[in-house]
Amino acid sequence: MAKLDGQVAIITGGASGIGAETAKLFVQEGAKVVLVDMDEAKGNALASELSSQGADAIFVTADVLNEVQVNDVFSKTISEFGKVDILFNNAGIGAVKPSEQLDFSEWRKTVGVDLDGVFLVAQKAIKQFLQADGGVIVNTASMYGLVGSPGSAAYNAAKGGVINLTRSLALEYAERNIRVNALCPGFIDTPILGETDRQMLSDSTPMKRLGKPEEMAKAVLFLASEDSSYMTGNTLTLDGGYTAQ
Ligand SMILES: NC(=O)c1ccc[n+]([C@@H]2O[C@H](COP(=O)([O-])OP(=O)(O)OC[C@H]3O[C@@H](n4cnc5c(N)ncnc54)[C@H](O)[C@@H]3O)[C@@H](O)[C@H]2O)c1
Repeated sequence: MAKLDGQVAIITGGASGIGAETAKLFVQEGAKVVLVDMDEAKGNALASELSSQGADAIFVTADVLNEVQVNDVFSKTISEFGKVDILFNNAGIGAVKPSEQLDFSEWRKTVGVDLDGVFLVAQKAIKQFLQADGGVIVNTASMYGLVGSPGSAAYNAAKGGVINLTRSLALEYAERNIRVNALCPGFIDTPILGETDRQMLSDSTPMKRLGKPEEMAKAVLFLASEDSSYMTGNTLTLDGGYTAQ
């Protein structure tokens, strides 16, 4: 039997990278998926591709910082599929700049999407889960939520926040059958890396290569499925050994 048979999953940042690969794996495992992203073209294309293969997949355009649009995501999910079982809370942006050059508006935008947005979508999911029989949240943090690095203070602060938000929500709802865990990727080969020198990132990783989004998707499946049924408030780090250094 497939690991997510009949489950309904909302995936933010679902149009690209880790979110898109997770959507593909989730539908293979029997889930119905709601892709959420600001990138309408890529989101619609992936939803059409999955639907043409026989999967139940829809795309909803939303900014995770826009409460009206986030509410719309949950309304459309309920009207289309009748319930929500899983939230993969994964949308995020990077910001690489020395701190003395970072405009306060850039700080606020990064912390906004990468931390406030994670809380907002998690809160809406929890409201649904409390009316049902529980649910599962997987938040995408980063290895940079566990260790510091120069040049990305806003991102690192936000991701550290996601890890402790994960622990706090897990404890708050542990008795309500709601599990909340975090994924901490290392350097993964997705568009978020932008112009960053990939060779330099590989060289700084003990395994001497970037991670693949497909490798992250398998970990998300573990965290979202019954395979991790006794795990909550925790982080799963997939970083080629980076944080073991
Ligand atoms: N790739 C890496 O090296 C790496 C490492 C650690 C953590 N992460 C995290 O993984 C997550 C997924 O990133 P990815 O690597 O797949 O990158 P990606 O750029 O391929 O995907 C991120 C997606 O999030 C969407 N998005 C951005 N802001 C949004 C918003 N306000 N509302 C809705 N959607 C929004 C983008 O449009 C994009 O489709 C992010 O949270 C990122 O911080 C990535």
